[in-house]
Amino acid sequence: MSMPRPWTKEYIERRQDVLCRIIRDPAVLADFAVRRPLPAGHGAGLDERCIEYPWMLSRLKSGPERLLDAGSALNHPWLLELPVFAGKGMHILTLAPEGHCAWQAGISYIFADLRDIPMRDGFYTRIACISTLEHVGFDNSVYAGEAHRQSGLRDEYKRALTELKRVLAPGGELLLTLPFGRYENLVLAQQFDSTLLAELVESFGPAEVEKTFYRYGLDGWQLSDEAACAEARYARWAIDCFLNPGGYDLAAAPVDADLAPAARAVACLRLVKGA
Ligand SMILES: C[S@@+](CC[C@H](N)C(=O)[O-])C[C@H]1O[C@@H](n2cnc3c(N)ncnc32)[C@H](O)[C@@H]1O
Repeated sequence: MSMPRPWTKEYIERRQDVLCRIIRDPAVLADFAVRRPLPAGHGAGLDERCIEYPWMLSRLKSGPERLLDAGSALNHPWLLELPVFAGKGMHILTLAPEGHCAWQAGISYIFADLRDIPMRDGFYTRIACISTLEHVGFDNSVYAGEAHRQSGLRDEYKRALTELKRVLAPGGELLLTLPFGRYENLVLAQQFDSTLLAELVESFGPAEVEKTFYRYGLDGWQLSDEAACAEARYARWAIDCFLNPGGYDLAAAPVDADLAPAARAVACLRLVKGA
């Protein structure tokens, strides 16, 4: 099958189609829930959201709870309309307003910095933080303007992690995903390696931890392990494209042979706060 070049209009359309199908497929969600290998070709030619969303959804429970989306990766109408989000007292926290908002569905927005969350201790029963922690302390000007341009503060994510733990109820869980592989400063973010990941877990001090790794290849995304993902590289050209929105010639971009659109491995962590 011929795949559209990453981040073109055709890619964005196909991405949304495939993501909508994946997040509504009970068989795929069951594979994620019990960490079974994925069907061949899962997410071929697509970025890591085709792992992060179903992994996170497979660990969410229906019914009311105080759920925080830390970083607003869930702020898409085709995701928020899923039944699992119905009736949740959900908050979405990010640095600045985005194009879409779902307050009619009872979702509240908080525009703030994760390093200083304006909520009381223990408020949330669950927090989803999808591909966000790696951006803390890096250049967020494309998301939130010049005031949010920081350059490569490697340990700054720990301040956000301390805040996430503070606002989590005892026994509550943090569902966290990050680009993983070789350590890389991506300007917009940093890619976590094993050392940084171990420091993250130690800094949170969970009562329980579950780590799952997925890796991108020519045949799409597949269940993997930490050692096999340790050398994964981020598709660097994609960063130039994100840093120059509208000014980057996607048709001429030096896309890699595997058509990787962003991360080539992702770490999915479930961290439970002690009672
Ligand atoms: C990967 S983007 C998610 C954007 C998008 N809504 C999506 O669907 O993928 C990461 C987000 O992290 C947010 N972010 C980065 N640093 C932050 C911080 N210190 N506090 C709050 N949000 C932060 C950015 O504003 C950005 O929206």
